[in-house]
Amino acid sequence: MEILISESDIAAKVAELAETIRKDYGLADLVLVGILKGSIFFLSDLAKHLGVNVTMDFIQTSSYAGEKSSSGVVQIRKDLDSSIEGKHVLLVEDIIDTGLTLNHLRELLETRKPASLKVVSLLSKPGARKHETQIDYLGFEIPEKFVVGYGLDYAERYRNLPFIAVLTDEA
Ligand code: IMP
Repeated sequence: MEILISESDIAAKVAELAETIRKDYGLADLVLVGILKGSIFFLSDLAKHLGVNVTMDFIQTSSYAGEKSSSGVVQIRKDLDSSIEGKHVLLVEDIIDTGLTLNHLRELLETRKPASLKVVSLLSKPGARKHETQIDYLGFEIPEKFVVGYGLDYAERYRNLPFIAVLTDEA
């Protein structure tokens, strides 16, 4: 495995993103919506740097199902627990690849009439984009390679690596 982003570089970027988000939202209540399971570490580290007016909820989709490329169909496996109507929502993604998941979730959540809906993603692979997407807050742009660690998996493995690494075919 080749380390692409170190643990310390991730920590510095998360703190920087949180600072920007804190300034943008001020004292407003904010619902962090984590997309399971890949965003778990990112969401929890980000939340620790944000103010007290933060709540968390989770949604789970599936389009990869143990493969290294998207099946092209997004299914909701677990929906939010609470209503987001009239609330400021920040969707927390681990990585934007083709853009399919993000667009699907944006459309779905917009129908629930939040006061605002923005997106933060730790990683983006602009070279893999198939659907036009808007990412409001972005950590790192990375090349079109399959990565694991810091929440990202391959067939449920490697999520607990503290850094982000490129998964080679040999690995
Ligand atoms: P998209 O719908 O193609 O943008 O894919 C988004 C989702 O695919 C992410 O939330 C990840 O769960 C998964 N994904 C995309 N690229 C990678 C990767 O390089 N490693 C692990 N998971 C990935």
